[in-house]
Amino acid sequence: MPSNLSGLAQTRKLGPSGRGWVAEVVCDTAAMPDHLVPLERILAARELVARRVHRTPILTSTTAGRFAQAAGVRLGDDRLYVKSEHLQKTGSFKPRGMTAKVAALTEAQRRAGIITLSAGNAGQAYAWAGREAGVPTVVVMPAGAVRSKVEACLGYGAEVVLHGEHVGETFARMEAIRDERGLTFAHPFDDPDVIAGHGSIGLEILEDLPEVDVLVVGIGGGGLISGVAAALKERRPGVRVFGVEPTESNAVSLGLERGEVVPIQPRSVADGLGAPFAGEWTLAMCRRYLDGIVLLDDPTILAGVRFAAERMKQVLEPAGAAALAAVLAGRIAIRDGERVCVVASGGNVALDQLGELLGSAGTLSGASS
Ligand SMILES: Cc1ncc(COP(=O)(O)O)c(C=O)c1O
Repeated sequence: MPSNLSGLAQTRKLGPSGRGWVAEVVCDTAAMPDHLVPLERILAARELVARRVHRTPILTSTTAGRFAQAAGVRLGDDRLYVKSEHLQKTGSFKPRGMTAKVAALTEAQRRAGIITLSAGNAGQAYAWAGREAGVPTVVVMPAGAVRSKVEACLGYGAEVVLHGEHVGETFARMEAIRDERGLTFAHPFDDPDVIAGHGSIGLEILEDLPEVDVLVVGIGGGGLISGVAAALKERRPGVRVFGVEPTESNAVSLGLERGEVVPIQPRSVADGLGAPFAGEWTLAMCRRYLDGIVLLDDPTILAGVRFAAERMKQVLEPAGAAALAAVLAGRIAIRDGERVCVVASGGNVALDQLGELLGSAGTLSGASS
């Protein structure tokens, strides 16, 4: 069931070091005291990123429409619309926000370089955006980070530091290097420039599918859905936006329910959605713009990965398939005949693990149709 997002209290800052994962923004945050990124900033970020990232296609699937119908939901045009950010540069939507963040650095910050913390797609995207802009980039990853992701960051020219068994240790190392070398921390999700850059996805959806009624997006720390929801709702207030979190990786819905940043130990096959807490910006944006969040178990998320591979011939990572899975499983409150678009947010899955993931997929009620 969608969680109730109304009547939530103010958030507070908290992070593994006790100092908070608070973005060191160079933009005029005083102009946004409520932590809401305005449409004008999203429009400006869109202009900036449009020349640098792919304009991804919206694929359609009538088979997904049949699956949703078997789960009790009739989709508009008898099809599901899929904004295909797994086809984006670096294999996920992240270069949109990271390009906007890097472009907002001061000259001195650009020269000194940036540092980020990531086990996956954010690190790759900052490595890529840093190289494109000539900004030295350090990515700090947990010691056990997936080899292919480490190699991708190195391949995009970043310096990679592997440290720590859990995010607290990795974070402390990042802070130490940042302070030693005078680098700027580039946040993986809780930053107004990052959120504005991701908002470009919402603007593209409105241009390519102006009659969209419902949008569904996977949530980790909440940067993606914050930008997309703001862009859509500021332009078309009638559009409904739903988020999807893994059952045991629910930093945003927990933060919204409790009215503060809640640290969690995320556990899900969808590692891209495994943020250890939501942020001040993303909680404020999600509280303002979301119509609900649903929680999905891992087998259902993997059923989305399986559907994408089998029926759409698209390779999605579990995080990238969560929104699709939620619609196929009939978990989103869609009214009869509404036009629904999901964001397929990433495709960076280790191919040698794909068979095992597909084997653990649950069964969707439409599978026999
Ligand atoms: C593939 C993929 N989808 C969705 C997300 C969630 O994005 P956010 O943390 O901005 O909510 C991530 C984050 O890393 C991701 O890698």
